[in-house]
Amino acid sequence: MSSKKILLIAPTGQVGWELHRCVQTLGQVLAVGRNPKAQVFIDLADPDSIRSVIREVKPDIILNAAAYTAVDKAEKESELAYTINGTAPSILAEESLRLQALLVHYSTDYVFDGSNDKPYTEDDPVNPMGIYGASKLAGEQAITAIGGKYLILRTAWIYGLRGNNFLLTMQKLAKERPELKVVADQIGSPTWSRMIATATAHILAQLNSPLYPVEIEELSGIYNLTCNGQTNWYEFAKSIIAKNYNQPNILPIPTKDYPAPAKRPMYSVLSNDKITKTFGIELPDWDKCLQLCLASDLNNKI
Ligand SMILES: NC(=O)c1ccc[n+]([C@@H]2O[C@H](COP(=O)([O-])OP(=O)(O)OC[C@H]3O[C@@H](n4cnc5c(N)ncnc54)[C@H](OP(=O)(O)O)[C@@H]3O)[C@@H](O)[C@H]2O)c1
Repeated sequence: MSSKKILLIAPTGQVGWELHRCVQTLGQVLAVGRNPKAQVFIDLADPDSIRSVIREVKPDIILNAAAYTAVDKAEKESELAYTINGTAPSILAEESLRLQALLVHYSTDYVFDGSNDKPYTEDDPVNPMGIYGASKLAGEQAITAIGGKYLILRTAWIYGLRGNNFLLTMQKLAKERPELKVVADQIGSPTWSRMIATATAHILAQLNSPLYPVEIEELSGIYNLTCNGQTNWYEFAKSIIAKNYNQPNILPIPTKDYPAPAKRPMYSVLSNDKITKTFGIELPDWDKCLQLCLASDLNNKI
């Protein structure tokens, strides 16, 4: 198991940073970002860069934590969003197939239009509402069409103690403002980046075991991976700053009072049944996970 070569793309992102720490015991990890000053770097906007890094490294497992994630900006930068979220995953899938490597790729609840009234399963019809969701869907479809060994992990509402996310924004605004207005009619499942990484590592550990009874190809597919339970941004904000020294007044507002360039699904809760049944992982409730995340901040910002 320890001889597996793992190529981790984007160790600077929310999920990538946590993955870098979670997968070390699973093999020999090479973490590659897009900083051209680094000895090895990869630019997902450049197909040649992707091919040359993979052909040089010859990994057994590729973890793609990179994406174009600026949901609103994507409406104006659709070409770049499609290149990074659609074309790059197709090249990763082709190269993985050639090497018989396992590709682990992340996708999003924004592939759905939010019209469901019960948690989305992996087989529910997709209908993205914006460029970001559509470009991520293009990535999913390319990987699925190419085939081989792959896991597409659809997640949602990611937060953590690093990067750009709702939790850090609320903590910052709570220090600066006496009143916050937060959207209360979009429903989803806040998901800690560390939970995504630990669940991924747990799955990889199983698949790496010589005793694992199923061929990886048979498991290739899309899996939802979020915290369990559901809430809205307003309730999430209240939970985030419940124990803060500064306690601003938080007011619920409808989506129409917070206009943004990209439309979001009003309901994007994902069902975790498939991943739980397939890999035997119990996922925590979002509020319990949030408390763990906040507690980890009290100890240190590791
Ligand atoms: N954030 C969410 O709420 C959310 C929700 C659902 C699904 N997802 C999906 O989950 C995955 C992880 O998201 P995240 O929140 O961890 O993302 P993130 O924090 O925005 O990080 C994105 C990473 O991608 C890298 N990157 C961007 N363009 C690149 C390029 N051209 N070449 C190489 N690397 C590039 C960034 O590098 P730099 O550090 O150099 O910029 C960064 O490390 C993504 O697939 C995303 O679509 C995210």
